Amino acid sequence: METLTIDHAKLEAFAMRTIGDVTAGYTGVMVSLGSKLGLYRAMTGAGPLSAKEVARRAGCAERYVQEWLNAQAAAGYLGYHALSDTYELSPEHALVLADDDSPCFIPHAWNVPAAMWFDEPKALESFRTGRGVAWGEHDARMSCGVAAFYRNGYRASLVAQWLPALEGVVAQLESGIPVADVGCGHGHSTLLMAQAFPNSRFFGFDTHRPSILEAQRNAQAAAVSQRAAFSIARAVDYPDERYGLVCFFDTLHDLGDPVAAAQHAARVLAPGGTVMLVEPLAGDRTEHNLTPVGQLYYAGSTVMCCAHAISEGGKLVLGAQAGPRRLAEVFRKAGFTQFRRAAETPFNVVYEVRR
Ligand SMILES: C[S@@+](CC[C@H](N)C(=O)[O-])C[C@H]1O[C@@H](n2cnc3c(N)ncnc32)[C@H](O)[C@@H]1O
Repeated sequence: METLTIDHAKLEAFAMRTIGDVTAGYTGVMVSLGSKLGLYRAMTGAGPLSAKEVARRAGCAERYVQEWLNAQAAAGYLGYHALSDTYELSPEHALVLADDDSPCFIPHAWNVPAAMWFDEPKALESFRTGRGVAWGEHDARMSCGVAAFYRNGYRASLVAQWLPALEGVVAQLESGIPVADVGCGHGHSTLLMAQAFPNSRFFGFDTHRPSILEAQRNAQAAAVSQRAAFSIARAVDYPDERYGLVCFFDTLHDLGDPVAAAQHAARVLAPGGTVMLVEPLAGDRTEHNLTPVGQLYYAGSTVMCCAHAISEGGKLVLGAQAGPRRLAEVFRKAGFTQFRRAAETPFNVVYEVRR
């Protein structure tokens, strides 16, 4: 019988790495508390502060704040000055932790793993039975966390880089075209475009009622309700407005029948119109995606994207790491002839698709 030889250095390295992963989960809870309680905001721009002062500024109980500060200092999120027993939030970390308008604001993203844990019983059942879990069956923190996470990237790139990377589209938006945002979620992508292009009209569609209601509230808050309308509709039969631009922001791979959605896009697109397909960054082969970004997307895809596509019948379950070859094939089957990579960020890839 073969005896297994354990490499103790490898064992120790891997065990430490997994402890680091568990620690990250604990830190996420601290980040959420710090954000919701205003602890980061209380420290922003204030220089070194004692625990008593942070607690006073945030209106929280000092003993809890003291322990939280130590947890955050141990995580490297806050600086600690031993001589004065004070804590400091640097301007760079404040952009990530305290500024809701920053394109790298992170606290809302922790809603997603929180919902993934909360919904674990559903995932266990899905694995055992093969049944799907629709987007709306998840804990509400899922859709809020995803919307907030993607909003950062859209704010940083959509108007400044992605739209200009599509041939002729900015000129069309400036002169005025109807635009469809399919699977618009909370409407952040739609609203950014509506704010930038006042001559165009924007239509956001989604099957998830709470998301559409949130998108309508966001449109009112942004004062663009006149040119940005949101309604409940499916990707395969939303109303035909002869769109100059049809967008899929991180949605196509979630659909149970992406080919049918692409066929509908082909039907409702005006002559000369463009499909903008925004998808998670991925290569065609599994080994291309074994990266930290792939780690995040494959895990999310396991319980969200695949589960939703299966809940819609799962004719083609692409998953969040579909890769360009399979995405291009979807549009080829729907009658499109041009499929081009137009832009890329560390998390997303943007394709320009034309008939
Ligand atoms: C990952 S979220 C992306 C939301 C939004 N586009 C964003 O980037 O924040 C996928 C969205 O697709 C919507 N969706 C799923 N199936 C759909 C369908 N068949 N028709 C329209 N929307 C759908 C979900 O409700 C969800 O809002």
